[in-house]
Amino acid sequence: MKILLLGSSGMLGSDCKEVLSKDYEVIAPSRKELDIISWDVVIENLQRLAPDIILNCVGFTDVDACETEAFAVRKINVEGPRNLAQGAARFNCRLIHLSSDYVFSGKKSVPQPYFEDDPVDPISAYGRSKVESEVAVKENAPNYIIVRSAWLCGINGNNFIDSILANALKKKQKSLRVVDDQIGSPTWTYRLALQIKELLEKDIKGTFHATSEGYCSRLEFARYVFKKLKIKTPIEPCSMSDYPQPAQRPANCILENRLMKKNGLNIMPDWKKDIDEYLDQFGKELIKRARAGKS
Ligand SMILES: NC(=O)c1ccc[n+]([C@@H]2O[C@H](COP(=O)([O-])OP(=O)(O)OC[C@H]3O[C@@H](n4cnc5c(N)ncnc54)[C@H](OP(=O)(O)O)[C@@H]3O)[C@@H](O)[C@H]2O)c1
Repeated sequence: MKILLLGSSGMLGSDCKEVLSKDYEVIAPSRKELDIISWDVVIENLQRLAPDIILNCVGFTDVDACETEAFAVRKINVEGPRNLAQGAARFNCRLIHLSSDYVFSGKKSVPQPYFEDDPVDPISAYGRSKVESEVAVKENAPNYIIVRSAWLCGINGNNFIDSILANALKKKQKSLRVVDDQIGSPTWTYRLALQIKELLEKDIKGTFHATSEGYCSRLEFARYVFKKLKIKTPIEPCSMSDYPQPAQRPANCILENRLMKKNGLNIMPDWKKDIDEYLDQFGKELIKRARAGKS
């Protein structure tokens, strides 16, 4: 099986490359080699490479920047996926596309999770672009899988763990404030890559939620990470309204992996198990990077 992997320099894409290359032929062009916003480039590459599967891990993922950079967001998060979906239809290949918990408003009361068939209701420009990407994929690619995930952490990208470590390890930093009213499921990109492999090996189609099991607040997540890494900086609770950001975030980000479970495909473990494994493998490196100001 030949897989065309796009976004392989990113946090999720790099782990997908590592996982899938063990069993499949993976072609992973850089953005310079294959820019998904160009229809001509997409078509030329699909014709020449003839993949069985396109795995799209590309994204404009800076949620706050999405509020002001409408043109780039539209190109990368909507028109790019549409090009891939139309190309997949033309060359008869499958398209696997990544989407997000931000397609929902997050207004459901915790711990009620979001299901795959809940109505979407985004509250940010990023969320709206992911909804539009889903529509573009569904309307154009006859054979597609949409994977919605959330709260990703991985060694090849800047994420929540990097940012709390960078803040805590700043010189003279006495304490940290972290929101306690945003709830979700921390998900390791390496595990998500294994889950994507599980999905692409089956003859299935549709939209699937794929996050780790269990949930926590951002505050609980930060405290868990600090305890594990023996970081002594105290963490104080605050609320999202104390910490205004350009983009509104959903408060409830819990996704239920209902369709994967129904099909016997769910391999996602409890979030603590995976965060333990991630920090056992990479904790020292993460601290070193944060101290060097590289995260
Ligand atoms: N991060 C999260 O917490 C999260 C949560 C839920 C869903 N997701 C979704 O998961 C997917 C992957 O997210 P991520 O956090 O791994 O992304 P990321 O680390 O920001 O990586 C984005 C990738 O997209 C590439 N790219 C950007 N524009 C491109 C273009 N025009 N043509 C080709 N490649 C382009 C980048 O290449 P360069 O490095 O060369 O720019 C990079 O490899 C996205 O669809 C995202 O919406 C992410």
